[in-house]
Amino acid sequence: MEKTLVVYFGGQNPSQSTMTKVAKEIAEMTGADLFEIKPVHPYSKKEEDCVNEALRELDSNARPGIVEPLPDLAGYSTVILGFPNWCGTAPMPVFTFLDAKQKNGELAGKRVVPFVINAGSGPQNCITDLKASYPEAALDEGSSFISGKYDSAIPLALEWAQTIM
Ligand SMILES: Cc1cc2nc3c(=O)[nH]c(=O)nc-3n(C[C@H](O)[C@H](O)[C@H](O)COP(=O)(O)O)c2cc1C
Repeated sequence: MEKTLVVYFGGQNPSQSTMTKVAKEIAEMTGADLFEIKPVHPYSKKEEDCVNEALRELDSNARPGIVEPLPDLAGYSTVILGFPNWCGTAPMPVFTFLDAKQKNGELAGKRVVPFVINAGSGPQNCITDLKASYPEAALDEGSSFISGKYDSAIPLALEWAQTIM
């Protein structure tokens, strides 16, 4: 049976983020399993401090620790991967997750469908950076939604999810 996994990073305040709401709704709607990428050291809930933390990690190409165990992707035909745009690219915990899966050979030929929540600047390099780092994955074009604070990201994301299933 075809199985789908929704993997998401909920940003600096996951319990309240648009990303978490969207990921949960997509999983519910599609009957997919759900996995949250949780950083071992949570980011500051203050946006300005969090931006500085994210910029430091980006500058050093860091791979911050994430809470294990991680799901085995072998059991899934499609991985829907959601995260917020952080400073023009994917947050580094997303790279930590994908590096671990790359190391195990789990990304080879795997259909990965990214979706990005952003505050107005679109996906920027979020998807192209993943394509460059994980060329063995079958990465879809993905999609990008303006945050719920500014637009109706959730209904748009649900509509989009129906088109990829
Ligand atoms: C560290 C950090 C960097 C961000 N960088 C960008 C950015 O470059 N472009 C953008 O559109 N939004 C950026 N944002 C906004 C996030 O994408 C936004 O938090 C996301 O859309 C989730 O919104 P929410 O508050 O509705 O959950 C950034 C947010 C943080 C915390």
